[in-house]
Amino acid sequence: MKKLIGFKKTKIAVFISGTGTNLKNLIKFSKLKSYPFSVDLIISNTNKAEGLKYSKQYKIKKKIINYDKKIKSDNKILYILKQRRIKLICLAGFMKILSKNFIKKFKGKIINIHPSLLPKYKGLNTHFRAIKSGEKFAGCTVHYVTSKLDSGKIILQKKIKISKKDTAFSLAKKVLKKEHIIYPASIKKILN
Ligand code: GRF
Repeated sequence: MKKLIGFKKTKIAVFISGTGTNLKNLIKFSKLKSYPFSVDLIISNTNKAEGLKYSKQYKIKKKIINYDKKIKSDNKILYILKQRRIKLICLAGFMKILSKNFIKKFKGKIINIHPSLLPKYKGLNTHFRAIKSGEKFAGCTVHYVTSKLDSGKIILQKKIKISKKDTAFSLAKKVLKKEHIIYPASIKKILN
């Protein structure tokens, strides 16, 4: 990806469907001089996403795109992204699968955070499955998005130990803390 010119930060869009702790964390980091991005747009597929509150709190434009009609939704999003000169899309708990066409149009500029040590445990319920399989380690991964689910090139990964007492819930909490470290770091890594 291109190097920053002058002091201008690269505009990113964050796509969410839920709580938005990663969104909030990215906003927080974007305010730091040493992080080369600004969160310019929040996209959610539902108006029930708790994370949408950060739009108001931080005065960031939000757009709710109902994904019922995929092609129409894709085109709407592509239009807004172009209009706002968004250079990178960060998926953060976005529960919809982007179309092949959309991914092609934004090739190499969509990244995602996944709560497992990819390539292990793609898809949902990662913590539950990791514990059930007797894994000793869990973690999170930031990777490029391709049309194959949770399979693009890895940018950063963080590993943690699973303790005997861990439940899917406690593990999710621990992993989330690490997500908040590697997501901003990954963006910095690919933009620098
Ligand atoms: C995170 O665990 C992320 O890895 C996964 O969805 C969750 C989103 O959490 N893709 P939040 O909405 O950022 O709190």
